Amino acid sequence: MFCRWVIVIMMMSDILVWNYVEGLGVNWGTQATHPLKADTIVEMLKDNGIGKVKLFDADDETMSALGGSGIEVMVGIPNNQLLEMSNYDRALQWVRKNITRYNFKSGGVNIKYVAVGNEPFLKSYNNSFLNVTFPALQNIQNALNELGLGDSIKATVPSNADIYGYPDPNNAVPSSGIFRPDLSNLMTQIVQFLNKNNAPFTVNIYPFLSLYENDNFPFDYAFFDGVTNPLNDNGILYTNVFDANFDTLVSALKSIGFGNMEILVGEVGWPTDGNKNANIQNALRFYNGLLPKLSSNKGTPKRNGYIEVYLFGLIDEDAKAIAPGNFERHWGIFSFDGKPKFPMHVSSKNGENKLLVGAKNVHYLDPKWCMFNPNSNNLSKLDDNINYACTYADCTPLGDGSSCNDLDANGKASYAFNMYYQVQNQNDLACDFEGLAMITTNNISTSTCDFIIQINPSSSSSLLPSFVVFLFVGVVTYLNMC
Ligand SMILES: *[C@@H]1O[C@H](CO)[C@@H](O)[C@H](O)[C@H]1NC(C)=O
Ligand SMILES: *[C@@H]1O[C@H](CO)[C@@H](O)[C@H](O)[C@H]1NC(C)=O
Ligand SMILES: *[C@@H]1O[C@H](CO)[C@@H](O)[C@H](O)[C@H]1NC(C)=O
Ligand SMILES: *[C@@H]1O[C@H](CO)[C@@H](O)[C@H](O)[C@H]1NC(C)=O
Ligand SMILES: *[C@@H]1O[C@H](CO)[C@@H](O)[C@H](O)[C@H]1NC(C)=O
Repeated sequence: MFCRWVIVIMMMSDILVWNYVEGLGVNWGTQATHPLKADTIVEMLKDNGIGKVKLFDADDETMSALGGSGIEVMVGIPNNQLLEMSNYDRALQWVRKNITRYNFKSGGVNIKYVAVGNEPFLKSYNNSFLNVTFPALQNIQNALNELGLGDSIKATVPSNADIYGYPDPNNAVPSSGIFRPDLSNLMTQIVQFLNKNNAPFTVNIYPFLSLYENDNFPFDYAFFDGVTNPLNDNGILYTNVFDANFDTLVSALKSIGFGNMEILVGEVGWPTDGNKNANIQNALRFYNGLLPKLSSNKGTPKRNGYIEVYLFGLIDEDAKAIAPGNFERHWGIFSFDGKPKFPMHVSSKNGENKLLVGAKNVHYLDPKWCMFNPNSNNLSKLDDNINYACTYADCTPLGDGSSCNDLDANGKASYAFNMYYQVQNQNDLACDFEGLAMITTNNISTSTCDFIIQINPSSSSSLLPSFVVFLFVGVVTYLNMC
């Protein structure tokens, strides 16, 4: 036992020493039932020395909160707006409203990129955005250029790795990378346009998904601590899929004449729940490999040097669609309420390495939970009620291999009921479930399964301090007057 602790402490000191990455970014998604206030998140980013964020839209509260922070921002245009943006005047209007308005020196937002769409060429979108993405990209960059912003703000299209691959699947080595044949002409046009505007290519790389999608995928190859059988690409040995994936893109770009194009990694990360491989240990193993690798600025075999990377993601999003998998709601390095999930640090402040610090001034609902009433005697409606709760609240931790899967049947019912009750802001009516549920003030969490208390949606993190200041000023004024 003692030895295990020594090892844990040694591992933690490794984290302390090596994980500082200069210029690391994070993805800030906001698909949550109870999102933290944008101001709270911006303070948290600053406290952690995170200097870059990537957004999925141009929400006004988010942009306003980022104003004056100095944080570099990639603003996003969602896929469902790409069709509109294939009209130039509409794109110009978007840029005026969502870029120009915030783009001023003192107190403005430090906008560096516009992400035009998000993985629009994903195979599962059935080519829905095939004909609108390039026109939208051109219009947004041309509008930026027309408004005199083109030198400092670049439009790019974050793509998923499924846009490239290998001509011969039996020889899937990075040096043979090409763009998917059905996208080859389009990608050539896009890359030429990016190159003309000195804009980067943005790619999202997901070793977790390689593992999730293929049971035969060599487990260790998803991480960074070595494999027994490296991939041999004409003498270059690949020991992790991140490098192999990145270098496949380098080859694909080279195959169309742009082997030196700048590449940003728009998303990379590891989820912590919702799948047998999505847990804290694996996430920690992944980040404990990725972050030192990035901070060493070694790059990949084909591209040495610094890689600009945005982790996915900043914070859990309990309202994200789970069509791709239950893990979708658990990508955060922080949980829904801004608590760090594990000890790691993404930056150093004043030259001193610090572990992640949580959000401040988070106000919760009361400490009370909804649970299955053990005195219920007619259980015929139990399944219907659990299904109802899980339709409107996040029950993904109950699934196979997930954090609450070990609960017994009553515990699972309680978990579902509580999630619904919390999403409904602890409304008494939301803890009835046809008499099957009851409210409790005992924390019914277990060692692995957290029965959460939601964030209080009505508490304003900015109102309270100003009210206190107001009181304070009032008291001081009163004392001075006397
Ligand atoms: C600005 O961005 C917001 C959020 O993404 C979007 O809803 C809105 O339509 C955009 N404004 C214009 C004028 O396009
Ligand atoms: C794509 O096509 C498949 C099969 O036809 C369908 O199930 C799916 O809903 C489609 N997806 C989208 C985004 O249209
Ligand atoms: C895209 O445009 C091509 C050529 O005009 C057309 O054949 C194709 O059907 C379009 N695809 C979609 C999904 O609209
Ligand atoms: C249980 O409840 C259902 C629906 O309310 C009812 O139809 C059924 O008769 C009840 N069973 C018993 C044993 O009371
Ligand atoms: C409930 O207990 C869990 C596990 O001990 C703990 O992590 C959590 O903070 C507790 N919640 C509250 C609201 O006290």
